[in-house]
Amino acid sequence: MSTHSPSHATVVILDYGSQYTQLITRRVRELGILSVILPGDASLERVKALAPRAIILSGGPNSVYDPGAPTLPEGFVEYQAAGRIPVLGICYGMQLLVRTLGGQVGRAHKREYGRMEVLPSMGSQLFSGPLSQPFQAGMSHGDETQEMPGGFKCVAKSAAGAIAAMENTSSSMYGLQFHPEVTHTASGKELLRHFLCDLSRITPDWDMGSVLEEQIQKIRAQVGPSERVLCALSGGVDSAVAAALVSRAVGDRLHCVFVDHGLLRFKEQSRVMEMFKSLGLSVTCVDASARFLGKLAGVSDPEQKRKIIGAEFIRVFEEESRKFDATGFLVQGTLYPDVVESSPAPAMDAPGTGAGAAPGAGMSGGEVGTSGGGKKHSHTIKSHHNVGGLPKDMKFKLIEPLRDLFKDEVRELGKRLEVPTDFLQRHPFPGPGLAVRIIGEITPERVAVLQEVDEIFIQSIKEAGLYGEIWQAFAVFLPVRSVGVQGDGRTHDHVVALRAVTSSDGMTADWYPFDPKFLGKVSARICNEVRGVGRVVYDISSKPPATIEWE
Ligand code: XMP
Repeated sequence: MSTHSPSHATVVILDYGSQYTQLITRRVRELGILSVILPGDASLERVKALAPRAIILSGGPNSVYDPGAPTLPEGFVEYQAAGRIPVLGICYGMQLLVRTLGGQVGRAHKREYGRMEVLPSMGSQLFSGPLSQPFQAGMSHGDETQEMPGGFKCVAKSAAGAIAAMENTSSSMYGLQFHPEVTHTASGKELLRHFLCDLSRITPDWDMGSVLEEQIQKIRAQVGPSERVLCALSGGVDSAVAAALVSRAVGDRLHCVFVDHGLLRFKEQSRVMEMFKSLGLSVTCVDASARFLGKLAGVSDPEQKRKIIGAEFIRVFEEESRKFDATGFLVQGTLYPDVVESSPAPAMDAPGTGAGAAPGAGMSGGEVGTSGGGKKHSHTIKSHHNVGGLPKDMKFKLIEPLRDLFKDEVRELGKRLEVPTDFLQRHPFPGPGLAVRIIGEITPERVAVLQEVDEIFIQSIKEAGLYGEIWQAFAVFLPVRSVGVQGDGRTHDHVVALRAVTSSDGMTADWYPFDPKFLGKVSARICNEVRGVGRVVYDISSKPPATIEWE
């Protein structure tokens, strides 16, 4: 896979296992410069193929002296010297430069963890102008530079006296012991801009407008003038933006299929179909709800539910694709985080990485309380079903126009494609839909109850102006009845749970602390308006140990 676009100045980020590697990449892109992640152990050929204008070495959880600790690609030092390609090592990346170039790294006398003051020295290139003032920075490291390699000078110290930054201007190599990519580093973004634009002389030339134009040209070159293209729409942001983009390239030769498995949110089918049509997409909605619910009847096991839905989805989609004589190309909304190759998962365990973990938790570089594990997509807790999971024997050639982009970039691209903002801000929704939110057996009645409850909850969140603060909110149908009292009578009605979480990537999550008054109002509305529901509970578990969905 190549994410390289030769027409843009490119920054290569070598990943040494920090959980912040993607954040570095995004910060660089926010500056209007294309950045691409390669694993720290990539061959030099792969680095060279991208013709980088600058290279950033990420943090990582190892100590440079650990047996098997990752190193620079073989031949890197000579390659860098020959082209004087500017290099910035961050935390482990800095320690790697120190060790490789003949300096000394050792255990820190005093571990620095969290927000620390950094004091730049006068006369440094890295901290010139306004950057020369003391500033707060996010740090987390157990190792530190004790002796710099020849030609380097210390250009900033931490409040505890450790070497916080070094530079060798004649070789264009720089090192930071702190993390400029995290928001705890006040001038972090400006420091990265200074390194890339001033010291590396890169002129920003990458934005969603150029991505759009390039992708349209690329798709036109890939798809012949009479060939047809198929796209499975899920109702989510990624497939919709991908379809809108492809339709700009091939017009009405794109045909989209939206499969309603009967486990969608309240009025979802009509809402999304209206939106697709407003984008001028040619879409067939296949109402396969009876078929899906029939297959799911009597099934309670979550994994079995997922498998049935995945398999049935493929069958429906195959049938539809034959009808449209569009068997050549398939559009998928795959994103960059799904395809990026990461460096080997670090050996350490992952404490304290929740969205609410202490500031600085999980930073890198021989660090304290590190995370970063599981980057090799080792998520086997649930077998996620996505509309993308189509069988290989369908022999489609794939068109994946979002493959190089992060979610926020996809939203930006969506705006340029005139996808409504409301739609772009939607919470993620799982492929198997309400099937994994109805605990136990799925019946049409349970689906209907859950849809109504969910609608009241989501509408209330929107009315309270909280939708954008929450990563995902939804209701869950519980297979229990509980005793209640309504009027003069005793009731024995259903129990539903409400769940709302904050998260940055869905890998960890924290429950959302609603005002109790808000929860009280929502609960009263649900019990009054939804027939058969007599009790509402709010889920206050974070991930881990819970997962976001209940099944
Ligand atoms: P969990 O429940 O694993 O969810 O903490 C993490 C994120 O993944 C979504 N999710 C799914 N998405 N198919 C999907 O397309 C699935 O089977 C599935 N299960 C969970 C979940 O909604 C959350 O955003």
